[in-house]
Amino acid sequence: MDFKIAVLPGDYIGPEVIAEAIKVLKVVEKKYGHKFNFQEDAIGGASIDKYGVPIRDEAIEMCRKCDAILFGAAGGPKWETTVKRNRADTALLKVRKAFDLFANLRIVKVYPPLVNATNLKPEVIKDVDLVILRELTSGLYFGEPRGIVENQEGEKKAFNMLTYTEAEIERVLRVGFELARTRRKKLLSVEKSNVLEVSLLWKQTVLKIAPEYPDIELSHMYVDAAAQKLINNPKDIDVLVTENTFGDILSDEASELGGSMGMIPSASLAKISDGRAFGLYEPIHGSDPRNAGKDRDNPIAMILSAGLMLQYSCGLPKEAAAVETAVTKVLEKGYRTWDIMRDGEGTEVGMSKMGDLIAEELEKL
Ligand code: IPM
Ligand code: MN
Repeated sequence: MDFKIAVLPGDYIGPEVIAEAIKVLKVVEKKYGHKFNFQEDAIGGASIDKYGVPIRDEAIEMCRKCDAILFGAAGGPKWETTVKRNRADTALLKVRKAFDLFANLRIVKVYPPLVNATNLKPEVIKDVDLVILRELTSGLYFGEPRGIVENQEGEKKAFNMLTYTEAEIERVLRVGFELARTRRKKLLSVEKSNVLEVSLLWKQTVLKIAPEYPDIELSHMYVDAAAQKLINNPKDIDVLVTENTFGDILSDEASELGGSMGMIPSASLAKISDGRAFGLYEPIHGSDPRNAGKDRDNPIAMILSAGLMLQYSCGLPKEAAAVETAVTKVLEKGYRTWDIMRDGEGTEVGMSKMGDLIAEELEKL
């Protein structure tokens, strides 16, 4: 099959990890007889420097003509300011909103060879395989009104609005129930309904639709307790569904289980029909300015994100599974980038070597 893929490499290590994902997708093309037509544009700091805006309308329109978006990472110290909101980051928020990418899947899986690669005890993280499903286009991130105002005495006040409609809550919950159906059939709904009205509506909505999914084991937790559970008993979690801000925080916490942020892929999906959706695929690690240009960081999160693209936007589950198998084999052979090295075990390799190894393994499958 033929696909049009929009590529937004972004800043610092963004373009580097994108190159490794494309390397692997080229093998998928050859091996399985597909064609990926890549079309690239600037985002984040790269776009600010070139065009004066974090993302151009032309780039958004280019994405609109494609089947999916591959995104590297945007932003960095050069474009950060404490005086105004971070402009490079606003590009990503704009893309999420423009394409209504409301369902953000962040997949935290502990690969057996990496069970010693984290600061947590192996017996706690062994066999962890969970998804954080984060609502991505509403809540505090987009709520209006928002602002910083000053009264006549010169006293400042800042405010943001936490708001969700029932429909926004319901559609992400349904993605959660459906996703759980394809996995271990457990859904954990995370909110703060002892304090927040928005969370109360969240919980009421879960309870309203739950009878439609009698095969799913549903549980509820307040976000503070869920943060603790992620560290003391993560194995028990299958799909964790939550609102935008809670999901932002919990997914960074959960990434520690996987050994490194460099191992965690994500998919941000629009409306799903017949298991397929338009989506944006990105690693959750960000642009890592310190290691940019050193051919050093881990490309696996980006490569696995490309795998998620094969699954959710291209409808190619067999090819997606092959990418994951190739990654597993390379890890089993002991190859590690610096972030997943522990106690000198294994062979340390750089980013492009890691990409080569995964591409070779995939070719051999
Ligand atoms: C993420 C990031 C973004 C977010 C930033 C860059 C706006 O932290 O994707 O988790 O907060 O959503
Ligand atoms: Mn985040």
